[in-house]
Amino acid sequence: MTDVWSSRAEGYRAAVEQREGEDLDLIVEWAAGAKTALDVATGGGHVARRLRDAGLDVITCDPAPGMHPDVICRAEDLPFAPGSFDVVLTRIAPHHFADVPAAIAAIARVSRDLVIVEDTLYASDRVEEAERLRDPTHIRSYSEAEWRSFLMDAGLVLEEVRHIEKTHPFDAWLARTGCEGEEAERVRALLAERTTPDGSGWTDVKVLLGARKEA
Ligand SMILES: C[S@@+](CC[C@H](N)C(=O)[O-])C[C@H]1O[C@@H](n2cnc3c(N)ncnc32)[C@H](O)[C@@H]1O
Repeated sequence: MTDVWSSRAEGYRAAVEQREGEDLDLIVEWAAGAKTALDVATGGGHVARRLRDAGLDVITCDPAPGMHPDVICRAEDLPFAPGSFDVVLTRIAPHHFADVPAAIAAIARVSRDLVIVEDTLYASDRVEEAERLRDPTHIRSYSEAEWRSFLMDAGLVLEEVRHIEKTHPFDAWLARTGCEGEEAERVRALLAERTTPDGSGWTDVKVLLGARKEA
């Protein structure tokens, strides 16, 4: 998996829907007052860039060396002492994690105060099939109820929940993972009900959650 992600690094750095969005503005807003942050599964480094621009000291981690993280590690095994960072975040990545409860427990452990998680919200089995066909590293998206449980089980108190729509241009989105030919056609067909009126892309919903450690 790590090598797959390293080979995709440039695509994820450049992708407009990764690089921009009101989700990044909200993350910066929610992190206001924090001095240190850990960006887990940093990918193209978009969260880290925005938080550094806002004046935070940010460490990045990711298991893929090609993403050039500060620390190479999985979210499930964060090699930091408890309470090392004011805020620990992970954006649009947990649907790739092998063990989400373990990852959220690790994230909660190394946070001193705030945890921010954003991920693709479960929509339907058809959307899940399309996501896995387009990208075999997609394990599963979770419902908001599942996210509430993951956070609560890690000893976190949920403070904010937002749903954010993102539109993915089909051509660039499929090319980013090398999905082409009949597979790409099947992915487009599975996403028919979410396809934009002009047919050029599809819209998914992300859930963005802000939670704090229990006092
Ligand atoms: C879609 S990218 C992340 C996007 C990025 N956070 C952003 O805001 O643009 C998914 C990343 O998850 C990483 N990843 C996959 N499995 C992981 C795991 N178990 N723990 C941490 N990161 C993982 C991949 O290496 C990849 O860089």
